[in-house]
Amino acid sequence: MSLFGKQIVLGISGGIAAYKSADLTRRLRDAGAEVRVVMTRAATEFVTSLTFQALSGNPVHTALLDPQAEAAMGHIELARWADVVLIAPASADFMAKLAHGLADDLLSTLCLATDAPIALAPAMNRLMWSNPATRHNVAQLKERGLALFGPGQGSQACGEQGEGRMLEPLELVDTLSGLFNRGELRELGVMITAGPTHEAIDPVRYITNRSSGKMGFALAEAALEMGAAVKLISGPVALSTPRGARRIEVESAQQMHDVVMDELAKIQIFIACAAVADYRPVISERQKIKKKKDQLILALVRTPDILATVAGLESPPFTLGFAAETRNLEEYARGKLKQKSLDMIAANWVGAPDSGFESEYNALEVYWTDGQRSLPKAPKQELARQLIQLLTERYAATHKGIVPQRQTHRRTQDPG
Ligand code: PMT
Repeated sequence: MSLFGKQIVLGISGGIAAYKSADLTRRLRDAGAEVRVVMTRAATEFVTSLTFQALSGNPVHTALLDPQAEAAMGHIELARWADVVLIAPASADFMAKLAHGLADDLLSTLCLATDAPIALAPAMNRLMWSNPATRHNVAQLKERGLALFGPGQGSQACGEQGEGRMLEPLELVDTLSGLFNRGELRELGVMITAGPTHEAIDPVRYITNRSSGKMGFALAEAALEMGAAVKLISGPVALSTPRGARRIEVESAQQMHDVVMDELAKIQIFIACAAVADYRPVISERQKIKKKKDQLILALVRTPDILATVAGLESPPFTLGFAAETRNLEEYARGKLKQKSLDMIAANWVGAPDSGFESEYNALEVYWTDGQRSLPKAPKQELARQLIQLLTERYAATHKGIVPQRQTHRRTQDPG
């Protein structure tokens, strides 16, 4: 799951579980978030603020009336800056303070001053957790809309067993991502093709292109964040599978075609991001070709056009194609939109430096029949989010609200 670009105030209250928050800080940053840490005085007794400064890459805030910290970012600015305030660990004492609206230190003041969502990851002894006073405070906080992450069951620092353990850092990152997942694609099936294809010449040689799969995999992550069930049909790439996606690996254009057609049941949205070879050798030699002559002429034949085949089905899913162009971007992209009967097409310049194939960055011009949108150069993860957001809007516009249809897709003739 991703928290890319999210601004998180990580509040740490006093408890032995504060040591886990060091790892949590690192995991939040790995997930793409910017983290500013606020510690209560009790928290600094367990772990030093220096640890969090090093891990978050930002100064740590500890005191309400610290002129130096206020000069950098005051508590009100911090409260406004946050997309979410996550308090981990949240001690019984700190939750009692929140329940009563006290504001006698920086973290509790910030909680009163923010309109960002607040999430609590409680950590305490099992008897403290089950104490009626804590239960009452928790109920009040929940009623006010604060999110409770955990606590979990298990062995506790005090040697007892029971409920009260702070959730593990990765569980917290996943749960927090869920807060931002607006779920617009919930219950929808999205199939994405990604990466290149390999068209065998002989057992050791093939025709391919420069696609790394990064754009397609970023789209899979963005669709997952929006709650979609994602099938990722990938050519040969060196990328790990986005958590939650179902990945099917293929090599050739023909294999990609066959898998796509077999897996279309329950798919409402089809995104063709793969750089599928347009031609393959007529003959794939069974033995390695020996170099005998000065010239070797390879006869090539067209591969099936997967996107056109899917869009030409009798009841096709919503289709988003890509166009990789080195000139006449709009003309060629709009041509493909029309000829292949697509709902949308995302066109990229593939000759531009540090963009398109292989790069971490891309820029897209997106077209549909009566509209267009420019998505300027950005990291592929960010761009993928913008594109999936736009696709969601177009899908909703054409489907009058997002209603999943568990249809299967009947085949008409294959336009090849
Ligand atoms: O993988 P990266 O390194 O991150 O790079 C991303 C990318 C540049 C590969 C990607 O953004 C992109 O442009 N993908 C489409 C590349 C392509 O093959 O474009 P095209 O204009 O040749 O094809 C048009 C569309 O038809 C594409 O959606 C393509 O997936 C589809 N197609 C093409 C041929 C074929 N036989 N079957 C297809 O489905």
